[in-house]
Amino acid sequence: MALLKIVHYPDPRLHKVAQPIATVDDEIKALAADMAETMYAAPGIGLAATQIDRPVRLIVVDISETKDDLKVFINPEILSASGRGEHEEGCLSVPGIYDMVTRPERIRVRALNTQGQSFELEADGLLAVCIQHEIDHLDGKVFVEYLSRLKQDRIRKKLLKHAREAM
Ligand code: NI
Repeated sequence: MALLKIVHYPDPRLHKVAQPIATVDDEIKALAADMAETMYAAPGIGLAATQIDRPVRLIVVDISETKDDLKVFINPEILSASGRGEHEEGCLSVPGIYDMVTRPERIRVRALNTQGQSFELEADGLLAVCIQHEIDHLDGKVFVEYLSRLKQDRIRKKLLKHAREAM
């Protein structure tokens, strides 16, 4: 397994639309394992392949306190969504930035697991937020795009400044 480098906003690679995965083969299983390791090490509760510059439709999520409830979603699709909820979000690609985002409160999602089998899951609360946030990444969308233009500009400038200072 290997730790992968996480791309930071406003890198344009975060805005690529990820391609569906045709076959769940050993390469995809290894990618999922590396992404999980990278997410736990960060630490974070979700990671999309887009964030490590692999634009394929694969996300990993673990919202448990004990970090032993890994969920892998390959080619995830939201089948239905209901309610509205506002939650504070952050992102491993937008370090140090947290803000409130409104999304559907409950979702039903369908995906393939690492065995290539289709499954469906109902989620609400933090899990629903996290899955929607990660699927947004696959569609090239970062959570700051839900914020005002002014906030987005501030965040972009702040992260570009950090990136320059880190060089
Ligand atoms: Ni994110």
